[in-house]
Amino acid sequence: MKKIRLGLFGLGNIGTGVARLLNTNKEIISARLGAELELKRASDLDITRDFGVKFAPGVLTTDSDSIVNDPEIDIVIELIGGTGVAKALIEKSIAAGKHVVTANKALLAKHGKELFPTALQKGVCLSFEASVGGCIPIVKTIRESLVANRISAFTGILNGTCNYILTRITEEGIPFDEALAGAQAEGYAEADPALDVEGHDTAHKLAILSSLAYGMEMSLDDIYVEGISGISPVDIEFAQNAGYTIKLLAISKYDGQSAEARVHPAMIPKANMLSNVSGSLNAVSVTGDAVGEMMLYGYGAGMMPTASAVLADAVDIARDILAGGATRIPGLSFMDGHMNNIPIRPIDEITTGYYLRLAVMDRPGVLSKISGILGDRNISLKSVVQTERKLNGAVPLFMLTHPARESMMKKAIEQISALDMISGRPVLIRIEEPESL
Ligand code: HSE
Repeated sequence: MKKIRLGLFGLGNIGTGVARLLNTNKEIISARLGAELELKRASDLDITRDFGVKFAPGVLTTDSDSIVNDPEIDIVIELIGGTGVAKALIEKSIAAGKHVVTANKALLAKHGKELFPTALQKGVCLSFEASVGGCIPIVKTIRESLVANRISAFTGILNGTCNYILTRITEEGIPFDEALAGAQAEGYAEADPALDVEGHDTAHKLAILSSLAYGMEMSLDDIYVEGISGISPVDIEFAQNAGYTIKLLAISKYDGQSAEARVHPAMIPKANMLSNVSGSLNAVSVTGDAVGEMMLYGYGAGMMPTASAVLADAVDIARDILAGGATRIPGLSFMDGHMNNIPIRPIDEITTGYYLRLAVMDRPGVLSKISGILGDRNISLKSVVQTERKLNGAVPLFMLTHPARESMMKKAIEQISALDMISGRPVLIRIEEPESL
């Protein structure tokens, strides 16, 4: 049987998963491909530890360049992560005429603009299904299944770590740090978990999907990013009682002229399907003019789901190699020369409902002062709840508003924060009420 040879950079959680999946599902992959995917070399800084995977003699190496320089290797898989060594190895591999599979969303979001044209010039694939949504085939869906659609929006839960943390706090009431430690132990979190909890990992994925969906030049500039570290159990409890779930969302819309691109925690009604996406599961809904709204759902992080997406890319490339060509589908979904510099609208221009939590002095006139400031900015209140519970002499005041313009809300918050009857910074969470799903 013909062999397609793979080189693998990085034997961390996902890299080990790829090696394992190649072993355990070798036969079914060969039966589907009509060739054998052979892991010829795998590099890591430390190859002495027990990976829990059987490697053929001579596969493991600490010398990544030996993979780049091996003429028998057709496809390299980059699972080192980060934008340093990983970028250099991808560039060298492309220069050596090798196809590349990566799960590295940070690298693509920051340097995709240079890497994709370089790959195109060399006539090799740069494939990245595993970079967004773990095992969910969202890249393939946008690039291939929805090729006949104008895509106007997508909304997603795209970070397994944040979703796992929010789920465990909601369902078990455990502290944030314990939930994060759980996500790290399960292998969901980035090497620097701040990338997850501060929303940047989701922004990387949003940049990649926006590029695929709209033909937008890939860029992180102007994407609004806010993570989950400012969310307290008290916010989650209030949301639950009010019929909402708090999720970290990636929200993107395109009207043909400019795009909306934002990442932030959002309260979504419990009846919405996204509300029921728990733990490390991810989901993304996409709206196309022919298909309407559709949703994909699956594990967004973790060893084997991500390894599955990596090998799906490798098999796609292998099929094209076997068919005599390998750049059948444009990496970013649009042909060269058809990508545009689509501007992103400032967050100030969006309109949503808001949840507002203030710590206020429990004295007469406080509520009328605050509602007056909101009213002056045309922000209408939907509900107000004040509890007895005291914290540093202040009581929490919870407010839900009807949809209002973000710029108005920001100005109101500034004014409210300056009041002497308010202690600390107000907590603001946007309320997203998608019409469907
Ligand atoms: N740290 C990422 C997450 C891994 O938690 O979603 C998958 O991209």
